Amino acid sequence: MTNVKRIGVLTSGGDCSGLNTAIRGVTFSAITKGWEVYGIHNATDGLFVRPMRYQKLTMADFTCPYATMGGTMLGTNNSGNAHIQERADGTIEELTDEELNQRFKDGIKELGLSALVVIGGDGSMAIVSKYCKMAGISMIGIPKTIDNDAPGTDMAIGFATAKSIVADALDKLDTTATSHNRVIVLEVMGRGAGHLALEAGIAGFADAILIPEVSYTYEGLRECLKKSRAEGRKHALVVVAEGVKTPDGKHSFATNGKTFGGISEYFATRLQADGFNVRANILGHIQRAGSPVVEDRLLASQFAVKAIELLAEGKDNRVVVHQNGQITDMDLNDVLKISNTPVDPNGEMVKTARSLGIYVGEK
Ligand code: F6P
Repeated sequence: MTNVKRIGVLTSGGDCSGLNTAIRGVTFSAITKGWEVYGIHNATDGLFVRPMRYQKLTMADFTCPYATMGGTMLGTNNSGNAHIQERADGTIEELTDEELNQRFKDGIKELGLSALVVIGGDGSMAIVSKYCKMAGISMIGIPKTIDNDAPGTDMAIGFATAKSIVADALDKLDTTATSHNRVIVLEVMGRGAGHLALEAGIAGFADAILIPEVSYTYEGLRECLKKSRAEGRKHALVVVAEGVKTPDGKHSFATNGKTFGGISEYFATRLQADGFNVRANILGHIQRAGSPVVEDRLLASQFAVKAIELLAEGKDNRVVVHQNGQITDMDLNDVLKISNTPVDPNGEMVKTARSLGIYVGEK
């Protein structure tokens, strides 16, 4: 048992749907125990800037529509560079490692926090955990990512909602593809993992799904589309994860030059040259937006409750995870030993897709 009385909560990394539900869950569960909760703004940046940026969270903060909104009410940061901070007057200050450590420690002390709940990826958890150790407070992590490749957990917050957004987009694209007898190539997020493309592609009745984990040939894709056209199906939907490389092994990059993006254009151009009527669509950040579906609300609430339970039991450096239908927890160091979880090329989901006649690469 612990004497936790006041905790902090923050979101870190790219946003997704369900973060506000998780913040709500942490707040309600902690307040139910008689604790106080402080929401730290913009990941750990809220503790690094002066004056600090945070808010005391109460149950009243979560009246509709806040708990069901996409994004994160606390703000987040996925730039990975804490050394550059913006002052309140808009000027920039550069902080050394020592200054960051000191500000973190001072911030925690000033707010009187005995623990931090980090809603983010394992990379963020590893960084914040070091700061927490140094400041002498506990850390509990809650995994989120629409890519659903977080180590140690079968499900992460945001994936279910993103999947339904992609499936819904495919339903809509199907009507225009059918009207024009077109092939529509839909590019979805997924840098290194194709869970989103694969599961949403099956649910959205795609004809072909290309993911980073399964090799493909352009000819294989083209033949599958030709075959379905010969069978009388005049339109087709192709889903491609942004992390898929061209057959000669090149990534396409988005306008920022850092994140992947644009591979759909590659396939659209080649298929068009081969006689198909094609359009490419990049779904983009809409996949991380909108109200969370029930599955994400439930997962976020269960993760939040588990995080508070762990703190109440005096646990530290744990990550809440969903394994075989159960909410449980793992040591962060063990989570960090596991690499991100890609799609199993021989797994059930790929088999299901192929049994439905969907082209999922390999030849
Ligand atoms: O990791 C989640 C993710 O949504 C990826 O699928 C995508 O490549 C990336 O975030 C985009 O991040 P940003 O917000 O930097 O554009």
